[in-house]
Amino acid sequence: MSRTHLRQISCSGGGVTHIDQKRRSLLGGIGGVAGLAAVSPSILLSACTNEGSADSGSGVAPAHGADNGEVDVDFRLRARRDTVPLLPGTPSEVWRYDATLVDGPANTLSSINNSYPGPLIRLSRGQRVRATLENRLPEDTTVHWHGLHVPPDVDGQPRLPIKPGEDMAVTFDVRDRAGLYWYHPHPHGPDGGRVGFQSYAGLAGPLVIEDDIERGLALPGGEQELILILQDRSFAGDNALRYMDGMGAMMARMRGFFGDRVLVNGRPPRTRDVATRPYRLRILNGSNARIYKLAWSDGRPVTVIGTDGGLLAKPQRLAYVTLAPAQRVDVWLDLSGAQVGERLRLISDAYQTGMMGGMGAMMGRSALPAGARFDLLGLRVTDRVRDGRPLPPDLDSTPVLPAVTSDTPIRRFELGMRMMRGFFINGRQFEGATVADDEVVRLGNTEIWEFVNDTMMPHPMHVHGLQFAVIERRRMTDIRGWSGLASGLLDAGLLDTVLVMPGERVRIVLTFTDFEGLYLYHCHNMEHEDSGMMRYYRVRA
Ligand code: C2O
Ligand code: CU
Ligand code: CU
Repeated sequence: MSRTHLRQISCSGGGVTHIDQKRRSLLGGIGGVAGLAAVSPSILLSACTNEGSADSGSGVAPAHGADNGEVDVDFRLRARRDTVPLLPGTPSEVWRYDATLVDGPANTLSSINNSYPGPLIRLSRGQRVRATLENRLPEDTTVHWHGLHVPPDVDGQPRLPIKPGEDMAVTFDVRDRAGLYWYHPHPHGPDGGRVGFQSYAGLAGPLVIEDDIERGLALPGGEQELILILQDRSFAGDNALRYMDGMGAMMARMRGFFGDRVLVNGRPPRTRDVATRPYRLRILNGSNARIYKLAWSDGRPVTVIGTDGGLLAKPQRLAYVTLAPAQRVDVWLDLSGAQVGERLRLISDAYQTGMMGGMGAMMGRSALPAGARFDLLGLRVTDRVRDGRPLPPDLDSTPVLPAVTSDTPIRRFELGMRMMRGFFINGRQFEGATVADDEVVRLGNTEIWEFVNDTMMPHPMHVHGLQFAVIERRRMTDIRGWSGLASGLLDAGLLDTVLVMPGERVRIVLTFTDFEGLYLYHCHNMEHEDSGMMRYYRVRA
């Protein structure tokens, strides 16, 4: 079918997810521990064909969200197969988003780097948005707006799958602060999740929200605003993407997937020409499991101006930034004092992993094990210009953190592991839209959630539908390993994902506003999430 030897495996049986044993074994146990048969490495992005429906389009889009009246922005977002050049030589088969603007400001959509990442979607706070999602994939998908405060029905949850060939229209208001958010699939069927696979295949894109406060700061824009999506990938000799195949699949399911090389915006890292002026780097960790330790090659501090949920009150300088899967960081880099000819690199620096990381390396599964040091971006100063824009000492101090009192209820979530069975939250795994008594919260209430990590792996814990603040991080046990990341943990500002290190207890404060209904919380190590380290919670009026 294509130069990349993608092989279609036909599926037996029906059901929601169209996943069968045969394919499961090819993809290496995504849906269960069964089936770790060795396969030819070139068959990687395999999926089931859903005869007849995949490219037909139903034309009828079920609608979710606010009414279907006037909107400020209207676009169509299509998930489909494509073949794009990723490495020199043979192009690779990917799954990707592309989009068309139906109505709205001309700069709403822009493509990134001629590779698989979905278009950059640029929205403004206060806009009403309609997105028509078209599934042209051979299996169910959803589109989740990661980090956005939107109603449950438009949140792209697994309980509302878009079937192959179908469309779904969602309408929502942009209520969030200026910041870098993102969108990605969130399907999960009876055989497990497909978030890891579908994102890995290429389905993910950045979403920027702008607001008046940010505009007032006149931060670097245009060529001086670099959006960087960090992901790691493995390739077969013919450049076909490889995911969880062969012998290492079982280990990858426990640790999460680690690729052999890093891609930035879907291509190998490269060097850019820059001028003697300030830059704004907006970085998304879109990897399945890898944690980055972001630092400058000359040891200068990293100046952070924003996190997941937008700008900080004031800039912060750190020696390095620990960026967990799904997290974003907004970095100010001032090259005003640089000389033409000077070079600087953004790197992911080395750190120690625990036994889980070490085992993977021992088994030779990744040429770039967790904790390896590598380059992400080269900068070469080629132009002398006078810009003179200073770093604003005050950014955005509007977010009022919910007040915590001695009466604020504490809800505890124990992150645990059982041999051969994977990871659990309070002893439970994903059971679809089933919510336990202790997973119901009250609309309008403020709570403290504490995540207690009793495993040997870090877990980036994500809560849907809101932004929260970290109020405490405490070491509870002496679990060893995983060192060299602690002082880069960004617990400032508003976050939607927080990294809980082995042996730690992290407390966050959150308020459930505006929307009733079901939302997800889960580990954003996508392999953990897909194998069940995810639950629904319910907001009840
Ligand atoms: Cu990126 Cu459930 O989320
Ligand atoms: Cu999310
Ligand atoms: Cu996890």
